[in-house]
Amino acid sequence: MHPTDRPRRLRTDGVRSLVAETDLRASDLVAPVFVDATTDERVPIESMPGHERVPVAESADRVREIRETGVEAVIVFGIPESKDDEGSRAWADDGVVQRAVRRITGQTDAYVITDVCLCEYTDHGHCGILETGAREDPRMTVDNDATLELLEWIAVSHASAGADMVAPSGMIDGMVGAIRAALDAEGYGHVPVMSYAAKYESAFYGPFRDAADGAPAFGDRRHYQMDPANAREALREVALDVEEGADVLMVKPALPYLDVVAAVRREFDHPVAAYNVSGEYAMLHAAAERGWLDLEEVAHESLLSIKRAGADLIVTYFAEDLAERL
Ligand code: PBG
Repeated sequence: MHPTDRPRRLRTDGVRSLVAETDLRASDLVAPVFVDATTDERVPIESMPGHERVPVAESADRVREIRETGVEAVIVFGIPESKDDEGSRAWADDGVVQRAVRRITGQTDAYVITDVCLCEYTDHGHCGILETGAREDPRMTVDNDATLELLEWIAVSHASAGADMVAPSGMIDGMVGAIRAALDAEGYGHVPVMSYAAKYESAFYGPFRDAADGAPAFGDRRHYQMDPANAREALREVALDVEEGADVLMVKPALPYLDVVAAVRREFDHPVAAYNVSGEYAMLHAAAERGWLDLEEVAHESLLSIKRAGADLIVTYFAEDLAERL
């Protein structure tokens, strides 16, 4: 009795790549860049080996290094020189991201995406203006509708500094529609919006919050980011962003949420992005450091799996390292 079908026939070396369903290219990857207005030296980020906060003056050099690996796109995060209740440095014309974007677009040919959020700019670390009493009462949270206008100002200031694409990440209801309308009204109708459409309230963001100094000073983000228990809700979230004019739909984090990536891929025709977040990066590094995993292999397999699940593009801290190998 012999097997009638032998899938192993297509696993020999000459044919494997001919029948591969998925591949990973440097042009699929977006590299995060942290620009820090409080330093004039590069500062390594301890929980994210290989990554650093760079001063504004070195932002274009940093992006040039990334471009040399073959990665074509970056997403810029800023650490401002000061924070306040409203996060006003987020939309300042001379803010850290605005200054960095001018340099990067002036001196490199990278495609520049900016993260549009308030958590790195507010002294309380939340992603918007607080409701009255939120500092004392855990049932209170970010004032959704009052935050929308601030997000409009941020997006317009990024576009006016030269950002090629804006990426609102605050999970504020209506943020995509508000930003789309503001960009259109100000003459930035050509600037696409990549929405962090299904962003979960995840413990995997820990290292990023060290990197960008954006941890909430009290409470957490469970009242605005999604509950990890929910997948059907993600499709509602994404559908709203599509109605509001989102151009690219992001799911975040990536690996623990591949079911959501796959569902968004199935249900929508828009490009799907996945954010392979800081915790996903840090845990592979930590295991590799102990000799328990081969870093290159697990990084490649992770990103390939994210593509297989349906992502067209991946925001990842592995971008440079993997691009060099691809
Ligand atoms: C800002 C933002 C966060 C991340 C990207 N944009 C932090 C958060 O929501 O707490 C996380 C990225 C990562 O962990 O790599 N809102």
